[in-house]
Amino acid sequence: MTEDFKEPIPSLQVAQGSVAWQTPSNIALVKYWGKRDPQLPENPSISFTLKNCHTNTKVDFVKRTITDGEFSFDIIFEGEKKEAFKPKIQKFFERIQEYVPFVSEYHFTITSDNSFPHSSGIASSASGMSALSMCLMSIEKQLNPEISETYFYRKASFLARLGSGSACRSVKGNLVVWGAHPEIAESSDLYGVPFSEEIAPIFENYQDTILLVDKGEKQVSSTVGHQLMHGHPYAASRFSQAVENISKIKTFLKSGAIKEFIALVESEALTLHAMMMTSQPYFILMKPNTLEIINKIWAYRAENDSNICFTLDAGANVHLLYPENEKEKVHSFIETELSIHCQNNHFIHDELGYGAKEMK
Ligand code: PMV
Repeated sequence: MTEDFKEPIPSLQVAQGSVAWQTPSNIALVKYWGKRDPQLPENPSISFTLKNCHTNTKVDFVKRTITDGEFSFDIIFEGEKKEAFKPKIQKFFERIQEYVPFVSEYHFTITSDNSFPHSSGIASSASGMSALSMCLMSIEKQLNPEISETYFYRKASFLARLGSGSACRSVKGNLVVWGAHPEIAESSDLYGVPFSEEIAPIFENYQDTILLVDKGEKQVSSTVGHQLMHGHPYAASRFSQAVENISKIKTFLKSGAIKEFIALVESEALTLHAMMMTSQPYFILMKPNTLEIINKIWAYRAENDSNICFTLDAGANVHLLYPENEKEKVHSFIETELSIHCQNNHFIHDELGYGAKEMK
């Protein structure tokens, strides 16, 4: 299989059509933080795929009469035409054109909405970019029905990566590894691959409740955050630690070593934040309520012999992770103890999902 994804597209003549996909968000267990051009990770990462937090995208396409190499598209987001999203999509099309040359041959109407509230502090770039990439691959498939299923999903992940790095982990599989790692078969810096090992029953249907501490815009964009890893005094050791952590988490996921899993996942989250605290300029991305929640999680875990743990994105919100068999108790703990630390008492229950779904 060619890994550069520039296979000539025989281009059947397709005048117009419509494709639609739903793709989820994902939450990293071992974090990706630091990248090099073109959107390649400095270290491998692994994530849980979510289910309830997702984006639905429909792309209607019609062949253009002019062939000027320009891109022609409209975006309708949550029922409204969104001019503000255009520059991002324009840039995405520029980046991917060499792999999907048909993008300048059609006019696209992109209609999209998210299952989670717009200003919830949940990044929509992973689900948004992966949904659009799946749609583009469905169009490629109509132009070239010969492409294999493996090629289809890998290239979708490859395109999504060029839109937003972590989006490549939102395409296929309940656990996804992105970044070449010697112990993960077929892993690549170019796209995400489903974690193919069997996982212990305790990790099946794993739960994730997102505690919305801060629904505002992120204080530091991930683009800026990744850049701060260039020349960071601890960058090299952080990148090799992530490689080691992938090896470790692989064994924990297989054997069901949940205590070790918890320690690794929480340490990864705090390490990501420590990188931001020790960069130049430095940032604190947690809020007082983030710390209140973390302390309550630790106390609850000790008092109840529970297996709940937390992870964090590059922001103040907390992802509370727990096995399905604790669901009922943890939900009442969230309602009575944790929701008061969330903005407008807002949290979202989610769980392990399986990736993109084609919508008919
Ligand atoms: O995909 P980006 O560029 O928004 O970076 C995401 C980085 C983290 O969410 C903080 C970690 C990760 O691996 O998803």
